[in-house]
Amino acid sequence: MGVRRYWFYWEYHIILLSILSLHWKGRNCEEQTELVPVFKIEAPAEVTVQRGLCVIIPCNFIIGPDYTLTKDAIGIWYKGRESGIVAASTDSSQFPDTTNGCFIFTGKVSAGDCSFSISDAQPGDATHYQFRLVDEDSLKFSYLHIQPSVSVTGLKEPDISPNNDLTAGEEVTVTCTAPTHCPGLSPTFTWEGSVNTENTQNNTLRHQDGTVTYWSTITFTPSLSDHNSSLTCTVTYKHESAKTSITLNIEYLPILNITVPGGTGESSSLFLREGDSQEIYCKVNSNPTAKISWTKGKSPVENTKQNGHKLTLSLWNVAENDTDIYTCTAQNQRGINNHSISVSVEYAPRQPKISVYNLEGCLPVGNISVPDGSTLSLHCNANSNPQASFSWIQTDPLKQLSDNDVLNIQITHNIVCICQVENKYGLSNNSLIIIVTRRRSYRRTKLLKRCLKVMEMCFIII
Ligand SMILES: *[C@@H]1O[C@H](CO)[C@@H](O)[C@H](O)[C@H]1NC(C)=O
Ligand SMILES: *[C@@H]1O[C@H](CO)[C@@H](O)[C@H](O)[C@H]1NC(C)=O
Ligand SMILES: *[C@@H]1O[C@H](CO)[C@@H](O)[C@H](O)[C@H]1NC(C)=O
Ligand SMILES: *[C@@H]1O[C@H](CO)[C@@H](O)[C@H](O)[C@H]1NC(C)=O
Ligand SMILES: *[C@@H]1O[C@H](CO)[C@@H](O)[C@H](O)[C@H]1NC(C)=O
Ligand SMILES: *[C@@H]1O[C@H](CO)[C@@H](O)[C@H](O)[C@H]1NC(C)=O
Ligand SMILES: *[C@@H]1O[C@H](CO)[C@@H](O)[C@H](O)[C@H]1NC(C)=O
Repeated sequence: MGVRRYWFYWEYHIILLSILSLHWKGRNCEEQTELVPVFKIEAPAEVTVQRGLCVIIPCNFIIGPDYTLTKDAIGIWYKGRESGIVAASTDSSQFPDTTNGCFIFTGKVSAGDCSFSISDAQPGDATHYQFRLVDEDSLKFSYLHIQPSVSVTGLKEPDISPNNDLTAGEEVTVTCTAPTHCPGLSPTFTWEGSVNTENTQNNTLRHQDGTVTYWSTITFTPSLSDHNSSLTCTVTYKHESAKTSITLNIEYLPILNITVPGGTGESSSLFLREGDSQEIYCKVNSNPTAKISWTKGKSPVENTKQNGHKLTLSLWNVAENDTDIYTCTAQNQRGINNHSISVSVEYAPRQPKISVYNLEGCLPVGNISVPDGSTLSLHCNANSNPQASFSWIQTDPLKQLSDNDVLNIQITHNIVCICQVENKYGLSNNSLIIIVTRRRSYRRTKLLKRCLKVMEMCFIII
């Protein structure tokens, strides 16, 4: 009782208001016994409940000090201020309710508890509720000071988390939480989306205060193609359902595709003719956006142009030294990736260079004169792309001397040797004039040769 007295002083001014209100509504006062300044109710003035869901309205009341509650005390919640419609009571035989069990008087009246609950709330439930106490014949009291006002809102959408920063190829678990704590409601969860929706789990957690949290989890491994697709969680209650969709943001390593204008599909090699101009595209598919660059061999290329996800490399008037491996590199938060294209600049053979070797080594560059009978090795060398074919010919009479780049020849007379180099783009040549120097001892040499021949014969005879 001490607590109640304290309550009395604390809320004194409110009680006075309550008394005034009682006097104004004279009809209700008729039943009161004289002055009853300490009849008091404590309950929230306003509660909201989502359509189809539930709410508990906690409530306590006290009666005047001259009264005692019996165990037969009846509590009644009326719907509306004046309607007389019973929403819930503790004695449905005397005060039948009209709500098909959606309103339940949960409190124990004899203990001063007037709590009640609403489940499967409907828009028609939105109004004020008035508590009336009836205890035997002597005590009948309507508590008008607080008449909880219930408002019914639309169903809230469930929460989905996380809803971003998924990585392609990495398993993730997404949670959908129903925004309700009604015990005994057991919503069902449905997942829809382009990802695999088979691996789900439904969970219920009962809290100490009697409320319940319901949630469902889905575990899947997103793939690249799931990027930008939607994932929907639908929560279905008894008569209502609500859903939330998220757009999956799937991050992935950049994917590169090197193409050339007019080309079909991806290019990994490119053959150009000297003097050509060519653009090479590096298209990058990535999330998040990647930083793209071109390198020639290991050196960065400056002459590039970015257009959205495409970085264009422009090769103008290509020369032999533009032949190289060109690499496009793209980097985002998920990593770095590259693709290369080999560019080959082709041209007709350059003018060949001729090197001449005798038994002692390399002779000076240029036309030469050598002693009669010298054995020479002529090497022909010419830059070309693609690889050229070589041949050595002599003029006068025209005759092929070799079908490769090396010609081994014994010089017995003046000769013009031409090295001819050819690939599909053309042909090039260089010539070497070899003059035979007759030694002064020519005759002696001839004799010696003859002699040697004779000796050979002698040896054979022997
Ligand atoms: C979760 O609930 C939904 C619908 O209520 C059902 O289809 C699904 O099979 C349940 N999942 C598990 C793992 O029980
Ligand atoms: C994602 O979808 C939206 C609308 O459907 C579209 O405008 C956008 O370009 C898409 N983004 C990607 C990266 O596919
Ligand atoms: C690269 O792009 C070309 C042309 O747009 C397309 O045909 C090809 O399929 C793409 N290749 C890859 C691997 O995406
Ligand atoms: C490549 O060759 C061209 C012409 O032959 C020349 O002008 C240019 O300087 C060369 N570039 C390099 C990097 O050597
Ligand atoms: C391209 O990527 C490979 C492997 O990821 C790496 O070894 C190579 O160095 C990269 N090339 C360039 C030019 O960055
Ligand atoms: C030899 O002389 C001719 C005519 O003077 C010249 O065309 C040719 O290039 C010379 N050959 C060499 C290898 O220098
Ligand atoms: C060598 O090349 C020149 C042009 O460079 C051409 O006029 C000539 O006919 C060529 N000679 C031979 C034998 O092919």
